[in-house]
Amino acid sequence: MLGIETSCDDTTAAVVQRMDDGTYRILSNEVWAQHDDHRAYGGVVPEIAARSHVERLDSIILKAMAKADRNFKDLDGVAVTAGPGLIGGVVVGLTTAKAIALTHGLPLIPVNHLEGHALSVRLTEKADFPYLLLLVSGGHTQLIKVDALGQYQRLGTTIDDAAGEAFDKTAKLLGIGQPGGPMIEEKAKLGNLGRFSFTSPLKHRKDCDFSFSGLKTALRLEAEALTSPTKQDVADLCAGFQEAAATHLSLRTQNAMDLLSKDAPQKTPSRLVVAGGVAANLAIRQKLEKLCHSQGWEMVVPPTKYCTDNGAMIALAGLERLAAGLAPPQDEAMAMAPRARWPLAPPPLGGAFGGGKKGPKA
Ligand code: KG4
Ligand code: ZN
Repeated sequence: MLGIETSCDDTTAAVVQRMDDGTYRILSNEVWAQHDDHRAYGGVVPEIAARSHVERLDSIILKAMAKADRNFKDLDGVAVTAGPGLIGGVVVGLTTAKAIALTHGLPLIPVNHLEGHALSVRLTEKADFPYLLLLVSGGHTQLIKVDALGQYQRLGTTIDDAAGEAFDKTAKLLGIGQPGGPMIEEKAKLGNLGRFSFTSPLKHRKDCDFSFSGLKTALRLEAEALTSPTKQDVADLCAGFQEAAATHLSLRTQNAMDLLSKDAPQKTPSRLVVAGGVAANLAIRQKLEKLCHSQGWEMVVPPTKYCTDNGAMIALAGLERLAAGLAPPQDEAMAMAPRARWPLAPPPLGGAFGGGKKGPKA
């Protein structure tokens, strides 16, 4: 299966093979990260991202095919992110995948980007269903119960920024470069944890939603109060921010664990899967590991290259859908429009999707 992913700022294509025993061989996984194209603007510029995908996707696909040592006629299908994401990039990926599928007579399998993240752990680990997924990336922060392929229950989501977005915006404010997550983690290593103790957001709420805007503002106020911040000031601010973000992610995950064991103790998963770019952060991982240890849960984090956006997770979702007979009919797949918004799962406990920040974007 060829997998194509272009929903944000990584131009990616991979070829993945499903073995008879249900495990996977990743034959290639090509990623062109667009950081350099966006650096001057302090964040991802959708129009620039779309143009970069147009310029690079063909060659990235050919590279992935060559590395896998396969021709298009060897494939069983083409899986592609059809949303949610920056619409220009999704248009580029989906249109390219449709063209390849039409030209070579291959099935097209449009995939929800979040399903790719939800399943990505299965590329390298034996992760049987069900499990609890904490997805923490630049675009999404969600807690999802993964019951089976195509069966997802969203327990919580962010009511404002995604975790990675909060790291990126905070790094921009502190003027320490992009992408913000790794920069803040690096600076925090030299920081004094006790100097700025930011409150963990939404502490009074026992649900599983996330919020980062209050934390961002608290940091901005502290930063503005320093007339000419020294390197140590910046390191201390980074350490305080990272600690509060890690505590927040851990407390909300604990709420999800509590909710699941209260709802159906005999069917409670005991595995936490953490995916998305923010899962690379060691301080966050340590907090979550501590939580899992205290709750008797196992924690699994896919290798970083499969945590961040990649074509392999999209190919895997396509393969699983094909094997389970859950690929859409071809006329439907070919007619599918790219989607900027595409919730993976219904909202918690039968609530309706709201508008704005509570709605499908969140
Ligand atoms: O999953 P990803 O590669 O792309 C999507 O957003 O889909 O995640 C990128 C995000 C960025 O916001 C980046 O700052 C954040 O992940 N990130 C980190 C770290 N490495 C990447 N955040 C905190 N600590 C890190 N070490
Ligand atoms: Zn992603």
